[in-house]
Amino acid sequence: MPTLLGLNSGTSADGVDAAVVRFEGETPTLALKILAWVHRAYPLRLKRTLESLYAQGRAPLDLLCALPYEIGDVFAMTALDALQAAGLSGNDIDVCGSHGQTIYHLAADAARDRALPVSTWQMGEASLIATRLGCPVASDFRAADIASGGQGAPLTPVLDDLLFRSAGKTRVRLNIGGIANLTWLPPVTQSGVPGLIAFDTGPGNTLIDSLIRRLTGGAEHCDRDGERALRGHVDEALLARMLADPYFTVAPPKSTGRELFSADWLEGFGVNDSDDFVATVTALTPASIVHALREHLPPVPPIDEVIVHGGGARNPAIMEGLRARLAPSIRLATVDEFGFAPETIEPLLFAVLAWKCLRREPTFLPGATGMRRPAVLGKLSWPAGLRES
Ligand SMILES: Nc1ncnc2c1ncn2[C@@H]1O[C@H](COP(=O)(O)OP(=O)(O)O)[C@@H](O)[C@H]1O
Ligand SMILES: [Mg+2]
Repeated sequence: MPTLLGLNSGTSADGVDAAVVRFEGETPTLALKILAWVHRAYPLRLKRTLESLYAQGRAPLDLLCALPYEIGDVFAMTALDALQAAGLSGNDIDVCGSHGQTIYHLAADAARDRALPVSTWQMGEASLIATRLGCPVASDFRAADIASGGQGAPLTPVLDDLLFRSAGKTRVRLNIGGIANLTWLPPVTQSGVPGLIAFDTGPGNTLIDSLIRRLTGGAEHCDRDGERALRGHVDEALLARMLADPYFTVAPPKSTGRELFSADWLEGFGVNDSDDFVATVTALTPASIVHALREHLPPVPPIDEVIVHGGGARNPAIMEGLRARLAPSIRLATVDEFGFAPETIEPLLFAVLAWKCLRREPTFLPGATGMRRPAVLGKLSWPAGLRES
């Protein structure tokens, strides 16, 4: 049974999540077991570099040249931490999947507006990671999706049939990272596994983080445990103005990023240092998610469960906001009850994609990214020298 390693840093650019994963058994009872997972925060200097890159939208060429190696180094160190935690070495790993750090994502609408091709850019030099670990590394998974007519995101639906599809229930898997995305999973029927729908709903934590950074002069990076949001009151009129952003009405498939939901975007709403403002920006996350559930998913079969992962699951103000806005018939849960910590789902995804890449197994996600034909996602990088096997 293969042993895999998955690495990811999401749009929050908070640091790298790594998971060591083993496949156990055979389909249909195939299980993915997390042997160890770790998070390593980006060094402050790198985090500041990335934040200013995102804020300014431009950088000198020497910085752009060096950055993939600097990021790759942190990815390699996080991978080594995870191996140590699992009591393994790189030789024990069949393949590592590394998402890298998204620097820019030009999804369909944003690309069209600027007369540019749909495109995406993840940094984190995979040859450096492969050499440091001593195992092959698959990376750059989004490029082949785009080449096959997709928007490059979201890719998480690859895991959904494996982990979250149910025989009797309609589930929504909801990832609240920097950006929030969901997958609608109607139950398996006698005629087979129905299609899924997946898309980015809008901001997850990114606006909250950006607001807190601004209000604290960069001393804090998030509203830890939703403390300020829970102290404040939501300004419903302001929230309605935020929800009027056209992104929320666009029909899926759709994806977005910090390029749209940025500090500049918030600026238009009269940023101020009150707990009420923090509460309102925080409420936009659950409000836009619940809006997406109502407006952009089929009404039948009705949703039974919403299962949350990503850092937003750790913010009680977001979770309480969801609970309050969801219909009472919908059960709100986190992936913990499926045996996964909320931070492990995305590294797990890139581990599985790496395994598919190594075996040249195609992926097809028409209902998620808008792909028009199946494609093997990812590019392989190899460690120096020859591996004994
Ligand atoms: N205890 C917490 N309280 C509030 N927010 C949290 C907490 N833990 C994590 N977060 C939020 O989750 C974000 C990271 O989530 P993550 O799923 O890693 O997003 P991404 O995939 O975009 O990196 C942090 O930037 C922060 O906003
Ligand atoms: Mg993260």
